[in-house]
Amino acid sequence: MFELPTPQDDGLYIPSVGEWSRDKHYFLMRYIDAFVTAMKNKQWAGLHYIDIFAGAGIERLEDSKELDWGSPLIAAKAPHSFDKLHLCEKNKQAYDALNTRIRRIKPDSQVLHGDANEKIQEILEDIPDRTLSLAFLDPYGLHLAFDTLRALAKRRADLIIFFPDHLDALRNWEHNYLDNPDSNLDRYLGKGSDWRSIINKTPQARRAEVLRELYVKQVRTLGYTQFEYERISTKNRPLYVLIFCSRSELAAKLWRGTSQTKLDGQRTFDFDKS
Ligand SMILES: C[S@@+](CC[C@H](N)C(=O)[O-])C[C@H]1O[C@@H](n2cnc3c(N)ncnc32)[C@H](O)[C@@H]1O
Repeated sequence: MFELPTPQDDGLYIPSVGEWSRDKHYFLMRYIDAFVTAMKNKQWAGLHYIDIFAGAGIERLEDSKELDWGSPLIAAKAPHSFDKLHLCEKNKQAYDALNTRIRRIKPDSQVLHGDANEKIQEILEDIPDRTLSLAFLDPYGLHLAFDTLRALAKRRADLIIFFPDHLDALRNWEHNYLDNPDSNLDRYLGKGSDWRSIINKTPQARRAEVLRELYVKQVRTLGYTQFEYERISTKNRPLYVLIFCSRSELAAKLWRGTSQTKLDGQRTFDFDKS
């Protein structure tokens, strides 16, 4: 894995985030390194990076107060680099900071301000045919519409999806989503998921697993065949799962190889389903 020097406070906006943000960046960094190294000499016309919930590019970890590179800056600074970055951020303050930071490193990047679910078409139009992309899809909650994934699936792209089971779905389904047919959970899981009848029949201890299976079943309909999972927790409390999706066995093998060693140096072999 490549290493980056700790970011300096550059005077631009820096949002505060949970310490666990460091874990997802660790897995992203390792995968980017393996992905670009393995794929750059293949038949692709270019390698692109898509990050449509991009954040500000630098984050402050809320307990330690340390600064950490955000996902778009990790992709921009990777030594084996992508041909082009495609970024989107809805929050104006975060977007302005991101745009300034990215322009200093990769000035030809596409950096859009707005709702990712509305901007996806504009992003796809900027990605040439016969290219391979890695998409990091990392909202705070259930804000990635399934229709956005459907659009993305028209391009050849591996996906790393933030699946906020404990952070959002299980916390809110009963009080906020059950009676709203156009809820965030409905838009996230896509049409025909039938989550209401399934979740009601499922014992509480299995609901996270069942929701994830439901989501993966939906993603399979888009042509994805390979799925890998990385549980992110804090102090043994499960928060969300990173779901890696690809059509390529080689890519899945790369993900398994890079995610086997955790940030704390531990190696795990079975996915913790809690
Ligand atoms: C978890 S943070 C992203 C962190 C970033 N991926 C990283 O790892 O450094 C989620 C970001 O998505 C943005 N966001 C939320 N809803 C959005 C939407 N519909 N379209 C684009 N950005 C959105 C938020 O403002 C926030 O900056």
